[in-house]
This record gives sequence, structure tokens and C-alpha cells, in this order.
Amino acid sequence: MQIGWYPGHMKKARELIEDLVKNIDLIVEILDARLPQSSANPVLQELRSRRPFIRVLNKEDLADPATTKAWKSYFELEEGVKALPLSAKNHSAGASLQKLCRRMVPKRCKPGRPLRVMIVGIPNVGKSTMINTLAGKKMARVGDKPAITTCHQQIDLRNGILLSDTPGLLWPHLEDQQAARRLATSGAISENAYDQEEVALFALSWLVETYPQRLKERYKLEDVNGETADLLAKIGSKRGCLIAGGEVNIRRASDLLLQDLRGGKLGRVSFEAPPETSAASET
Ligand code: G4P
Repeated sequence: MQIGWYPGHMKKARELIEDLVKNIDLIVEILDARLPQSSANPVLQELRSRRPFIRVLNKEDLADPATTKAWKSYFELEEGVKALPLSAKNHSAGASLQKLCRRMVPKRCKPGRPLRVMIVGIPNVGKSTMINTLAGKKMARVGDKPAITTCHQQIDLRNGILLSDTPGLLWPHLEDQQAARRLATSGAISENAYDQEEVALFALSWLVETYPQRLKERYKLEDVNGETADLLAKIGSKRGCLIAGGEVNIRRASDLLLQDLRGGKLGRVSFEAPPETSAASET
């Protein structure tokens, strides 16, 4: 099943970003640290021109620390780019991000010359949480249902930083089906848009390849060899996802695996590693 997304509003969004970015000193893109490439939107990269760019690796509390470190180094190979791993839910995250913003554009943040920061991110990466943490109070709606509301709002942090938020403006880049499956694995895509079993099998093969020991421990498996579909059935059977007659309910087994993974029950897991390095490895 092909995972598709938001046809039609991409051109408009692109034009709007292009226009807004002209009066911006710094772009902050919120990414999901578990899948920084797949949760990025390549349009930003194109439109930033030479503007300073911070890539926030959010939800670092869920991601594999070694892989996050590798992503930071990878992103920072590009001139004018800094990567900042953090957990937006953590109170100290706001201060770390503001400090980096000031460091990257020292000539702003002065009376009458606020630092104009554009904050962007595809749905579910934690952008609203980040804005709330930055602003120190509930200013942006937080929730888990991807929504499209294309408007532009400014938030004055009253400390020399002016945030430009564009809710619902960025979409996930789903032409690449591998990226789409990773996004689905992370929970960033509405459940109606993909086949649970297919995504669970995709996630399971990544786990077998990258974190076999954690799989064995979590589901009390002796080995993780063989077909992924058989392994998913084995997990379902061990966890009681059964229907009448003792057959495994694959849909429930898929859901269980994905919920465990998203909820951190398999430890801190990254779903992709930067191109130059080998896949994330088990620690
Ligand atoms: P968005 O604006 O980019 O769409 O994302 P939003 O802030 O609504 O966050 C999406 C989900 O990600 C929320 O969970 C939020 O709590 C969670 N989240 C954000 N930052 C972090 C982080 O650093 N670490 C972890 N572990 N989770 C984070 P939810 O369950 O959908 O909503 P809620 O019940 O927490 O409000």
C-alpha cells in the first residue's frame, strides 16, 4: 500500500515559505531524532539559501544516543548548519535552543532589532511542544492528530527573539516510501493512511537487523532468524494476540509491536542512521 499525503497544498506552502523566509534571520527545523532525514522537508533546505539553520533533533529521549550523535555530526558538515539534540518536553530545552539561536546570529537580539526566527516542522515532530517550552506557557496547541491549518503567527518571546510559526505548513516528504514507512513507524502518519501489518513488518526487519538482542529480551525469543512474518506471528503468539482456534491475530500483533516501539518499550531506538555511517548498532 502506497502511503500518500496532502496533495494539492504543496505549491502554495512552498510559495508562502519562500515569501516568509525573506524577512527571517534564522530557520529552526524541528525533526524527530529517531528519523531525522525522513522527518525533514527538503524544500526548506532549498529555500534557506545561506541563512543560518538549526536542525533540532527532538525526542532525543526516545532515540538511540549514539545514532543521534552521528546525525549531529552529519548535519553539521554543512556550512551554517547546527544540530541540537533535545527533548522539547524538558524545561531546559527552551534555554538551550535560545542560546544557540543567539550564538548563530549575534548581531540581532538588540533593542529594535529582534532575532527573527522561523520555526517549522512536519506534524507530530513536537513543534507545538517546543514553542510552548520556548514561550514558557501554553501558547500552541499540542496534540497527536496531523492537521492542516495554513496560517502565519508571530510569537514575541520578549527577550529579543521573535518567533514566526506557520502551523500546518510543512508536509512529510512521502515520495520515498522507505521514509514514509519510517514516519508511519514513528506514529507521525494517521493510521488510516497505511497498512499496519506492512509497517510492523518493516519496523521488525529494522529491529532484527539493528537491535536483535532487545527483541529477544522483550518478547522472550530464542532467536530472531527466519522470515519476518513468522517472527511477527511468534511475537503475537507469545503476547496472547490470538483469535478463536488459537490462531494469531496479526493485526493486533502489529499494533502491539508498533505501540511497544513508539512507547520506548524496546529502549531508545533510532529508525535510520546517517548515510555515511553503517546502521545504528545495538548497545
Ligand atoms: P507537532 O506540533 O509537531 O504536531 O507536535 P506536538 O508538539 O503536538 O507533539 C506530538 C507528540 O509528541 C505529543 O505527544 C508530544 O507530547 C510528543 N512530544 C513532543 N516532544 C517530545 C519529546 O521531546 N519527547 C517525547 N517523548 N515526546 C515528545 P502526544 O501523546 O501526541 O500528545 P500529549 O498527550 O503528550 O499532549
